[in-house]
Amino acid sequence: MALPDPSNDTSSGLDPDADQRRVLAQAALALLERAHRRRDHEPIVAPTPPALIETMLRPPGETPAALPELFERLQTAASSGWNNAHAGDLAFIPSGGLYSGAIAALLASGLHAFTGSADEVPALVALEESVLRWLARLFGLPEGAEGLLLSGGSAANQTAIVCARERRYDPLRSRVYLSQHAHHSLRKALHLSGIAPGCIRSVPTDADWRVDTQALKTQIEADVADGALPWLIVGVAGSTDCGAVDNLEALAALAAQHQAWFHVDAAYGGLFMLTERGRRRLHGIERADSITVDPHKGLMLPYGVGALLVRERGALAGAHRGSAPYLRDVPQVPGLPHYFERGPELTRPFRGLLVWLPLQLHGVAAFRAALDRALDLAADAAERLRVLPGIELLQTPPLSITVFRARAGDAATEALRAALNASGRLHVSSTVLGGATWLRLAFLNPRSGPAEVDAVLRIVANAT
Ligand SMILES: Cc1ncc(COP(=O)(O)O)c(C=O)c1O
Repeated sequence: MALPDPSNDTSSGLDPDADQRRVLAQAALALLERAHRRRDHEPIVAPTPPALIETMLRPPGETPAALPELFERLQTAASSGWNNAHAGDLAFIPSGGLYSGAIAALLASGLHAFTGSADEVPALVALEESVLRWLARLFGLPEGAEGLLLSGGSAANQTAIVCARERRYDPLRSRVYLSQHAHHSLRKALHLSGIAPGCIRSVPTDADWRVDTQALKTQIEADVADGALPWLIVGVAGSTDCGAVDNLEALAALAAQHQAWFHVDAAYGGLFMLTERGRRRLHGIERADSITVDPHKGLMLPYGVGALLVRERGALAGAHRGSAPYLRDVPQVPGLPHYFERGPELTRPFRGLLVWLPLQLHGVAAFRAALDRALDLAADAAERLRVLPGIELLQTPPLSITVFRARAGDAATEALRAALNASGRLHVSSTVLGGATWLRLAFLNPRSGPAEVDAVLRIVANAT
């Protein structure tokens, strides 16, 4: 395809006409189609030759690249490395990369609507609000709770801490309490928010890898006796290592007793609230002051959409004060927020569409069924691994992550991981719990099914 030639065009040459748009869109969709077919039919990992890295590091040229060669290069790069949307991707926290989400992302950028303020396209801000209100209701937050879509769980955790800092925060006396196994983004966010390391209490976990509530109580009492202020208690609803869910009811009660802010990191586990089992396991989350939840995990959407929900209306705006004379013409819109007043971003992608379109296209029940299936797969894998003599199971999976190791020790566990990943159809990652190496099977990709569990079991049984 020849892109617009600036020499015979009064425009900059950057704006293709209708025919050129069609050619470009068709080439892009064809590339996407090849990538999606590869998901199902090719090995989960492909080599990345050093020459490919060299090619991809090349700077752009002064003149246009030819479309076929350009897309060929992109296709080659995208076909290398790990295929994260493959059915066998059970590593870290998988993200399904739903096709409907990819189309939503294309539309979100293609429509080029500014949703940082409510006045430019109020109907699209209303669409994004509908997603946030749906999420707030799902978690049982009261009418009037508010939210913000951000780039992911790390940004949502950071924004929650910034909000909490507006309430009863004293840089010297405030203390924050979080599980040893809380996600590292929380410690990073505390650091970015200027919270001194001496104010951070890492609380040990109990036999089920949940925060030890008795140890937490004892620590808080010791701090209070010392003149410190319990300021922020963080609960984890689905730890990244093993899916542990803290006793949220007990944490909420402690937070209420000490007037501390109660934040729950449900980035991975939160969307299980759509299921009956998830609602039971996350009981108490409805008492949180703020909740992080990631649609790019639990709703299997393409990367780039996390959410923060906040109980108290106005808390987000209170933490993100700021004004400028050039913003004086931005009018208020009754019933709709200016998102730039609720968070760190002014200009931002139209993330609401990434959540809204897939929910509308598939219906909520399809997501509930996929999440229920992930819980079933983790439970089934656990029961089958439990009976293998050479295998130790960490615990019955609290959510959709099954954790196990070779009884023979760390080296044998590592060898098992290597064997699983060498199969060409699985990607499994490890962690360290209690000083030992464990393997994790994280089920969250809607393409993963019983065939993947069978493949894991076959390899593990052969190797132990
Ligand atoms: C529990 C938890 N919190 C926070 C995060 C960070 O989320 P993100 O990678 O979207 O920034 C993760 C990521 O896996 C997570 O599992």
